[in-house]
Amino acid sequence: MKKEHYSVAVDGPSGAGKSTLARAAAKELGITYVDTGAIYRVIGLAASRRGIGTEDAARIIPILPELDIAIRYGGDGAQHMFLNGEDVSDVIRLPEISMLASAVSALGEVRAFLLEMQRSLARKQSVIMDGRDIGTVVLPDADVKIFLTADAEVRARRRCLELEQRGTPRPFEEVCEELKQRDWNDAHRDVAPLRQAEDAVLVDTSGLDFEQSRALLIRTIRERVDA
Ligand code: DC
Repeated sequence: MKKEHYSVAVDGPSGAGKSTLARAAAKELGITYVDTGAIYRVIGLAASRRGIGTEDAARIIPILPELDIAIRYGGDGAQHMFLNGEDVSDVIRLPEISMLASAVSALGEVRAFLLEMQRSLARKQSVIMDGRDIGTVVLPDADVKIFLTADAEVRARRRCLELEQRGTPRPFEEVCEELKQRDWNDAHRDVAPLRQAEDAVLVDTSGLDFEQSRALLIRTIRERVDA
């Protein structure tokens, strides 16, 4: 059945290529891509700016009402994140913000604060939304659920290549260790841990290149929503 309005949930560990692949699929399907990790990163940044570290991440909770977080889309479909009116899209990508995002995302109060924001985006338009708990918590009725993964070493290698291309190379061992640490944090937290939804399709891109992964993802979606 052809659907006019539909939602696709893409979950999986850090560095599985979720954002690059989901963005490419959104473009091909003509729907909106929502990167939910970026929203957690904005809270991580807000924490960092207040001198809050990964050890005392809970200190961000009383500050949440002061945070005005907005998502805007550029003409090219790129997602821009704003914190109290400032475009923070680039600064939220720093490695120290990744760790803080992971720490604040373990807090139930933070997840509750962001839940409605994510759901309302999917109500307004057809979306492909990526994160850790989209198929399990945010959009449990998503039309398509995908759990996108790859071996940790493969993910670390891809991340290293990406950093190199950006002109900010880092040692493989360090990147791999950090990635495994984040995987562990995200999968072992009490609230909305990273796990595959029972009705999600597993897509493992370990042996696939970008084009093959993109084609597989789009085919998996089209088969289910006739998009
Ligand atoms: O996808 P990312 O690396 O930009 O996400 C940053 C952190 O945010 C990640 O460590 C886990 C957390 N996150 C989450 O808990 N739930 C989501 N839906 C998206 C991200």
